[in-house]
Amino acid sequence: MKITVFGATGKTGSEVVRLALDRGYNVVAFVRDSRKVTIENPQLEVVQGELGDKETLRTALKGSDGVISALGPTGKPSDAELSDGIANVLSVMEEYGIKRFIVLSTTSNQDSLDKDGSRFRMRRNMIRRGRPITYEQINKYSQLVRDSNTDWTLVRIAALLTDKPLSKHIRAGYLGKDKLGSKLSRTDLAWFMLEQIDSADYVRKAPAVSN
Ligand SMILES: NC(=O)c1ccc[n+]([C@@H]2O[C@H](COP(=O)([O-])OP(=O)(O)OC[C@H]3O[C@@H](n4cnc5c(N)ncnc54)[C@H](OP(=O)(O)O)[C@@H]3O)[C@@H](O)[C@H]2O)c1
Repeated sequence: MKITVFGATGKTGSEVVRLALDRGYNVVAFVRDSRKVTIENPQLEVVQGELGDKETLRTALKGSDGVISALGPTGKPSDAELSDGIANVLSVMEEYGIKRFIVLSTTSNQDSLDKDGSRFRMRRNMIRRGRPITYEQINKYSQLVRDSNTDWTLVRIAALLTDKPLSKHIRAGYLGKDKLGSKLSRTDLAWFMLEQIDSADYVRKAPAVSN
């Protein structure tokens, strides 16, 4: 199994890379600064580039069986490039016929299976007002993924992220319907995303996740 990981320098993305290597996968980490990659492994290839550069995206995606995006807003001006970046990733995936795409999102992106309520509306409004670019970009790129012909899964963060160790205890469901917790370990999040690579359970679905 060969996978390409975007956002591989991030706290969640680096856990995806580490756990994928533990599984014996070949991993291509697409990063904008290779000095940030601290993992060394003969099965890890690091491709440095920008999401706007399709040629480098081709190098990173060629021959991959699946793609995981742990990209997410970091509060920098480049956050505004995320949705164009995801559009480029989708375009190269289509060129190469790569179908499986697992993408980090948040519950700011509503799903038709959610049962909306005032608590969720209030939370969305807070993010929309407080971090408008984050809100806009998460919704924009999540919609691009939903509209694509890929076998996508949007893994929507529904809780506060923590650095707790792997427990493999994840709750996945829909807002207002399923019981979700208030915390989510990035390692468990990474593990859940990797579990989806060869599972059809959440294909073309967008579960909200927490511990
Ligand atoms: N903290 C929470 O409780 C919470 C709750 C809900 C959602 N979230 C969101 O969840 C996401 C994942 O969390 P995390 O802690 O793993 O985030 P993180 O460590 O900040 O990782 C974000 C990753 O995205 C990459 N990235 C961002 N913009 C990019 C761009 N324009 N081009 C290329 N790469 C780009 C970063 O690359 P660089 O290393 O090059 O910057 C990094 O690898 C974050 O976006 C966060 O906002 C957090």
